[in-house]
Amino acid sequence: MSKRGKHKSPFGFKLGAGNRWRMECEGEKSMADSRSKRLTRTQIMQRKKRIEELLRSAYSSDKDHLSHFPNFRHYNANGLSLFLESGRGNKLSYDLKNYIQKLLKVNMEGPYGAEWPTEEKVKRREMSSPEALYIFVYNKESMIGFVQYRFTIEEEIPVLYVYELQLEPAYQGKGLGKFLMQLVELIACNNGMGAVVLTVQKRNTSAINFYLNKLRYDISSISPSKIYQLMGVIGQEKSYEILCKTFDHEAKAVLEASFSKSSKQRGGDKMVGLHNNGLTQDNLFVFVNHCVVSCSGIMTHDYQRSRLKAKVS
Ligand SMILES: CC(C)(COP(=O)(O)OP(=O)(O)OC[C@H]1O[C@@H](n2cnc3c(N)ncnc32)[C@H](O)[C@@H]1OP(=O)(O)O)[C@@H](O)C(=O)NCCC(=O)NCCS
Repeated sequence: MSKRGKHKSPFGFKLGAGNRWRMECEGEKSMADSRSKRLTRTQIMQRKKRIEELLRSAYSSDKDHLSHFPNFRHYNANGLSLFLESGRGNKLSYDLKNYIQKLLKVNMEGPYGAEWPTEEKVKRREMSSPEALYIFVYNKESMIGFVQYRFTIEEEIPVLYVYELQLEPAYQGKGLGKFLMQLVELIACNNGMGAVVLTVQKRNTSAINFYLNKLRYDISSISPSKIYQLMGVIGQEKSYEILCKTFDHEAKAVLEASFSKSSKQRGGDKMVGLHNNGLTQDNLFVFVNHCVVSCSGIMTHDYQRSRLKAKVS
């Protein structure tokens, strides 16, 4: 599944593009207003610091996220007797890397189709990143599946991003996927994240069903299909969706924002439409960010989005 759209270090994120944009749009202001602007800037800096602290703490080297949830150390249901262990990308053995690559190929070559050779290389790189965190699942003899996740920032919201959830075919459909996602959600909440986010191939209909219908995930407002819909772009689509489950109203406002029909005009009119539709500052920021990216055609180069965002700010 991998993360799409942005690749940036959780510690190097840039904050404030939306707020600065809003300030520039506001024009002349009274002293009282500028005082409140200063306050807003202070609040922004405090928030940035708080988020960086959260990520630093979540990544602290001695942290075993599984240790907080002893009930999730074992999975004994539906005829399975399994145990779980956590791990890190930069500590994978040669055998483990081989196992991960093989399982990814078995499960994902079909859904990715012609994109697989490229995607396989991306996944191989991501697999052993120091930021990649793992929950491995074993039976008595060997590993049978894993979750790979990271703590990162999406639209200035700290999130747990699930990069991979992979079970061997013989272990699918026995409640283990749901169990692992519950664990991941607990880890996210325990570390102060606002949401769990993941990317799923549209062709992987069974995984889409699993997330949307069984686990109650939503298609995020940062998913390409939502952005194209918002922009009124017809005839363009991406092969994947970004899904999320949010845990607080701020994350919900940003990652699950829904836009009304009247906002589906292009350019400046749409900005007015959005204001009139009573959107919050947070989801307006998401909109502006994606609007600039989409209008400049950079959506076709998803990986460049963060660079563009940095330019805007
Ligand atoms: C997707 C995957 C992680 C799901 O895990 P799983 O262990 O097979 O799913 P579970 O058995 O936990 O299913 C949980 C619930 O979802 C339902 N479900 C599972 N697969 C489903 C499907 N294809 N369609 C509809 N419902 C499904 C189950 O019936 C169960 O419902 P219940 O709670 O009412 O009994 C697993 O099948 C897998 O590894 N697939 C291959 C790799 C993959 O596609 N990963 C996801 C990449 S985004």
